[in-house]
Amino acid sequence: MLRPYTDHILAPKHIISTLEHFQTQSKDLQKTIPSTSKTSNISANTNTMGFNPDKDIPSLEGKVIIVTGGNAGLGKETVTQLARHNPKEIFLAARTASKAESAIEEIKKTVPGSNVSFLQLDLSSLEAVKKAADEFKSRSDRLDILINNAGIMAVPWAKTVDGYEIQFGTCHMGHALLTRLLMPTMLKTAEQPNSDVRVINLSSEGHNMAPWNGIVYDQAELERWGTWRRYGQAKLANILHARELQRRKPSITATAIHPGVIMTDLYTSVNSTSFVMRMSTGIMKSIFMDVPHGAHNSLWAATGPKGTVRTSYYWKPVGSKSGGSFWHAQKPKLAEELWDWTEKELEGKGY
Ligand SMILES: NC(=O)c1ccc[n+]([C@@H]2O[C@H](COP(=O)([O-])OP(=O)(O)OC[C@H]3O[C@@H](n4cnc5c(N)ncnc54)[C@H](OP(=O)(O)O)[C@@H]3O)[C@@H](O)[C@H]2O)c1
Repeated sequence: MLRPYTDHILAPKHIISTLEHFQTQSKDLQKTIPSTSKTSNISANTNTMGFNPDKDIPSLEGKVIIVTGGNAGLGKETVTQLARHNPKEIFLAARTASKAESAIEEIKKTVPGSNVSFLQLDLSSLEAVKKAADEFKSRSDRLDILINNAGIMAVPWAKTVDGYEIQFGTCHMGHALLTRLLMPTMLKTAEQPNSDVRVINLSSEGHNMAPWNGIVYDQAELERWGTWRRYGQAKLANILHARELQRRKPSITATAIHPGVIMTDLYTSVNSTSFVMRMSTGIMKSIFMDVPHGAHNSLWAATGPKGTVRTSYYWKPVGSKSGGSFWHAQKPKLAEELWDWTEKELEGKGY
């Protein structure tokens, strides 16, 4: 069968355009450094690479936080930085328990006295997501910050146990259900005096690679698209979900972010299957952000000035407002359509 975008023919094109994009972005980021205080309507020290989590994150006293995929990469760094600001509790939600336990041990060494605990979560199974939400609700009656960080990138074709393409199922469906099940707790928290409830979805500039017609709902049809296109769809869904969530639940703040380009385990699949990408990422290492800086945009969106964070559904690092892709991310109707489709799917499966 003819594929619209076959991996073997178009993957190099994707790689080249991705790398070109990364390079442009890196230059853009470097350009922002000297002009930090000049940029637009966001406070000077947060709209720049000069964001300093130690100084710019306010006290998080009393707050309860969940970070998905908190056992590695950007998620682990995000938990570590948040822990320094004295929240009531951080739930490090993760699939691989052994990695979670060693991450917690390390974080507690770095931030003595921090209250970080493990929440078992496998986003590729709706049943497991429900279990995680129930477990959380039995342990906390409030939730101030939910960072939907976990993700996978450019992995071979596979489906989740519930029949969704693995990247779409993990990055979007799993997080959509988690958010939905935790919504009553978040809405209750939002009623408390001085509350500031936030949902932050980790997206990517990779959302620009989504299929030309936006979201391909037919999961069997998705197999005909290359893995980068499927990753693009999953990350587009992260933006659209945050956008529609903000519209539907005005008492909370929801947005999506691109963290930058950071060499983490996310690239394992790419590096193991593509020689070109392996070579390219080797060369690109010099312009990749390090992991601590890679967590800045999540940290900014989760704790920066609420009035500012609410003004966009998508931010590039750090606190730089973006509309995302013209044909898809900027289409409110598509956000509404994905929301309705997702709700119907989840309800249809008994959630
Ligand atoms: N790094 C970048 O350059 C970059 C660029 C743009 C966007 N992003 C986004 O940033 C987020 C974090 O990426 P990263 O770079 O930190 O990647 P990473 O180091 O590979 O971490 C990914 C995390 O997601 C978790 N995860 C994967 N599948 C899961 C599942 N089914 N259930 C629960 N957790 C699962 C992993 O847990 P296990 O170890 O247990 O599998 C891990 O903790 C992702 O959403 C990614 O799309 C990253």
